[in-house]
Amino acid sequence: MRTYLVTGGAGFIGSNYIHYMFKKYDNDIRIINVDALTYAGNLENLKGVEGRDNYTFVKADICDKEAIAKIFAENDIDRVVHFAAESHVDRSIRNPEVFVQTNVLGTAVMLNCAKAAWELEDGTFKEGKKFLHVSTDEVYGSLPDDENAFFYETTPYDPHSPYSASKASSDMLVKAYMDTYKFPANITNCSNNYGPYQFPEKLIPLIINNALQGKKLPVYGDGKNVRDWLFVEDHAKAIDMVQEKGRLFETYNVGGHNEKQNIEIIHIILDTLQEMLPEGDPRKAHVTEQLITYVEDRKGHDRRYAIAPDKIKAEIGWEPETMFKEGIRKTIQWFFENEDWMKNVTSGDYQKYYNDMYKN
Ligand code: NAD
Ligand code: DAU
Repeated sequence: MRTYLVTGGAGFIGSNYIHYMFKKYDNDIRIINVDALTYAGNLENLKGVEGRDNYTFVKADICDKEAIAKIFAENDIDRVVHFAAESHVDRSIRNPEVFVQTNVLGTAVMLNCAKAAWELEDGTFKEGKKFLHVSTDEVYGSLPDDENAFFYETTPYDPHSPYSASKASSDMLVKAYMDTYKFPANITNCSNNYGPYQFPEKLIPLIINNALQGKKLPVYGDGKNVRDWLFVEDHAKAIDMVQEKGRLFETYNVGGHNEKQNIEIIHIILDTLQEMLPEGDPRKAHVTEQLITYVEDRKGHDRRYAIAPDKIKAEIGWEPETMFKEGIRKTIQWFFENEDWMKNVTSGDYQKYYNDMYKN
């Protein structure tokens, strides 16, 4: 049975990936999820998985060499899927250091421990071992407002925020391990994800939550920044397909071919909420565009991201499957059915973060 070590599996994409993998492989795989449970990690995301004989959770920091080495020593890990990171751009602008710590140092620890566990005496690696580093399209910087401009795997790195700089650094470390040691790895650079379990500091869950509560919907700058939105389950599938079918040492860009301005996203969410809220629901009265509030722009705000997922399509046969209209309905339906999840994650520290972040 193949054993996966997933880092950051209690976060948004990691937990969706774990659900996807058990749905697909059931008892044919084993997953060890290592997560430090920062503000973004939530074991509630993994209800339904806990209790399986082939799932183990380990609470540990990826920067903790001994803890990570112990996991490799006690388990014959076949695959690493490395999600754990500080992931929010706004937080990186306020507090960059933890991004360097987790995203750069943590990735170095993961690489080193995997290398130590997998390397043979002659410097080659045990058969079948693979490391997948989950990264972002933000490493490529910002595109002009030109619908023919896309990020390709060959686009030079040009990160702007402390978050994207830390992710670019971690990508470079993975590349260095591949080039120097022929370490068996892949990198995936993905566009903006949305879907169940996303923490409401990110645009889509924040807008859904605020709109339902009749709170202001904060739009940075002119609202015309463009992001390329991908339903999270499609991302989970892409990661699995890259590990199964991709060529080792390659980078694959993963994107939805679904570019939208932030203000368009907000209008779509408002319209969809109106359609989906039942007649007589009192929230129908306040879910309106009156809530839209333009606020100060994000510092260094990248204008446009757009991935050309040509390589992953041609080589691996992956394509985004979920149209935005369908994905946003599934996401809103999930939030309707999981009001307690939202209440739990927005109690406590979230309020402090929110009040501080949006005080202007
Ligand atoms: P998230 O913030 O929701 O989850 C991150 C997880 O990592 C949390 O469970 C957290 O507890 C854990 N973690 C943080 N620091 C840790 C540490 N030091 N040790 C162990 N665990 C730690 O993030 P996400 O949105 O799920 O993103 C996952 C990965 O995908 C990240 O590497 C991110 O850069 C990348 N990515 C995200 C998106 C997106 O749209 N969300 C798009 C492309 C790439
Ligand atoms: O592109 C991939 C990246 O997408 C990932 O690597 C990051 O981990 C992920 O957080 C995401 O980064 P963004 O900065 O693009 O996502 P965010 O949801 O924070 O913002 C999306 C857009 O919406 C961006 O242009 C900023 C804007 N925005 C965001 C918030 C939170 C607003 O206008 N108002 C807001 O309140």
